[in-house]
Amino acid sequence: MKLDQLENWQRTKKCEEVNIDDVGTEQIVMGWVNTRRDHGGVIFCDLRDYTGIVQIVFGQQHDETAFKKADSVRSEYVLAVRGIVAKRDPETINPKMKTGEIEIHVSELKLLNTCSLLPFQIADEYQETNEKTRLKFRILDLRRSAMQKNLMLRSRAAQVVRDFFYRNQFFEIETPVLTKSTPEGARDFLVPSRVNTGKFFALPQSPQLFKQMLMVSGYDRYFQIVKCFRDEDLRGNRQPEFTQIDIELSFTNQDQILSLIEQMMANLFRDTIHYEIPLPIPRMTYQEAMNDYGSDAPDLRFGLKLIDMNPIVANCSFKVFGDAIKKGGVVKAILVPGGADFSRKELDDLTEFVRIYRAKGMAYVKIREEGWQSPIAKFFTEEEIRKINETTGATVGDLILFGADTEKIVNDSMGNLRKEIAQKTGLTKDSEFNFVWITDFPLFEFDEESKRFTSSHHPFTMPNETDLDQWENEDPGQIKSVAFDLVLNGVELGGGSIRIHRKDLQERIFKLLSIKDDEAQAKFGFFMEALEQGAPPHGGLALGFDRIMMFLSNTKSIRDVIAFPKTQQASCLLTEAPSEIEKAQLQELGLALRKSNLS
Ligand code: AMO
Ligand code: AMP
Repeated sequence: MKLDQLENWQRTKKCEEVNIDDVGTEQIVMGWVNTRRDHGGVIFCDLRDYTGIVQIVFGQQHDETAFKKADSVRSEYVLAVRGIVAKRDPETINPKMKTGEIEIHVSELKLLNTCSLLPFQIADEYQETNEKTRLKFRILDLRRSAMQKNLMLRSRAAQVVRDFFYRNQFFEIETPVLTKSTPEGARDFLVPSRVNTGKFFALPQSPQLFKQMLMVSGYDRYFQIVKCFRDEDLRGNRQPEFTQIDIELSFTNQDQILSLIEQMMANLFRDTIHYEIPLPIPRMTYQEAMNDYGSDAPDLRFGLKLIDMNPIVANCSFKVFGDAIKKGGVVKAILVPGGADFSRKELDDLTEFVRIYRAKGMAYVKIREEGWQSPIAKFFTEEEIRKINETTGATVGDLILFGADTEKIVNDSMGNLRKEIAQKTGLTKDSEFNFVWITDFPLFEFDEESKRFTSSHHPFTMPNETDLDQWENEDPGQIKSVAFDLVLNGVELGGGSIRIHRKDLQERIFKLLSIKDDEAQAKFGFFMEALEQGAPPHGGLALGFDRIMMFLSNTKSIRDVIAFPKTQQASCLLTEAPSEIEKAQLQELGLALRKSNLS
């Protein structure tokens, strides 16, 4: 097929910009054929660009040559048309379309390109296409209006964020991508060095150390919308490369950082989706969150709090409860208002559900007029029953669910159970945004596998110094930190902290983390030196930009807000990366592949 050159044609309007005021004028529009309908003497096409759709009409009466040429036009061909804007006949007006009152009568058609057979219809927004196909044919997938909306909103969001930080005296400074490992708890992606054979760069898990060093250099306020790389298991809202809104400030404290980020988030939600976040965002300590919700990222759109049963059931005759407490564990309950009509099957399903989180079972009680209906009722005295009803606030028609085990297992299983019930009973709405700051995180977590403490956030987090003095030798697990997370509807959006800015303190923390002096020197020597070169007090945080975009775009998949994402298997179906490399390249890098590692 002979294609036309664009030559000196210039667009006069984007597709959806053509409107009723243009009637009678000549316009040039360009785009892709969304749909084509042949009505014998006339051919109607919807022409699409990123703004939307305009109807173009080819007819003998408008132009004979264009009409003939339109015969070969198919879906997704690329056209440029010149024509006169006309009012549509009243019966063909489409009130659902922005350009539904007008059409363009084509006087000249340029066929700029064709399009090969399509794996799915781009025009059909509601067609279910499996994700593999979408990712393989990502170019076409990105042409669909839903994806275009997401990525354009993302662009707008980045602009709002930049505007906000520039207005607040932040400098946008780029940090290196070929660098040294920054510990954020995941594996590093490594890049072999050709020039320094046998040595490797790590891609940054975050710009953490660089932004702290910029504070030492006196840049006062830094931000960056930055790619980070983590080789980790790709659950739900994770990608191996993702984007952070990364910030750091000098001479600051926790209150100032939280209030600044609240303002930024309020601007962002207002200027993208016109949602007003009620400020200030409430705060909750880590301990409260764990006690009441079993999670440090609680979804507060609904209640269903976990209720501590230990004081009541410690001596009851139901062995499961008593034994759990005797072993240092806990018993917690959830009250499900109106839950007494849950069927046997529903309760069995929930019991299966908690098993995912290593719970051994899920005891339940239905509150009936005549009293408790439950397989475990027989183990409880009237007094215990009265107290349980009173503490949970249970009344007739309600359901009480119990979990008994170690604190970790109960929090995990019951915390997820409350979310599962909320979802099943329709307590969560996507249009509702419930923000909360979680504060006072423990500085360390005990890693059962390696039998040592690891950082809850990262090793540069400021400990609560009173706690440190008190617990350093006794039980480092008790030490709190000046660290905080921003949580939205049960999703961790971001986290940050006040940092250690003194070398002696940083060394004490490395010691508690069992990082030896020579290891600290090899890994962070440059940074330890920075702390001796006039490091000011500083702190900051990073927000997951992709996760924020999932909320703003109301999508369930992180891949729907990233132009070219990786699959769950960490590969790109479009480019087929990662891929093998030439032998010569390996040689140049001083690398050899072990046969046993290749499948
Ligand atoms: P953190 O590790 O908590 O903190 O990361 C900050 C935020 O980044 C997002 N995020 C991710 N998003 C998508 N895919 C991933 N694999 C992924 N990993 C993290 C989350 C998370 O809350 N340097 C510190 C911040 C600081 O202390 O300033 C840091 O990186 O939304
Ligand atoms: P059993 O005596 O094992 O038949 O359990 C009686 C009830 O207690 C059942 O509904 C079990 O699901 C429940 N149950 C068993 N183990 C636990 C546990 N660790 N926590 C809460 N409920 C449990």
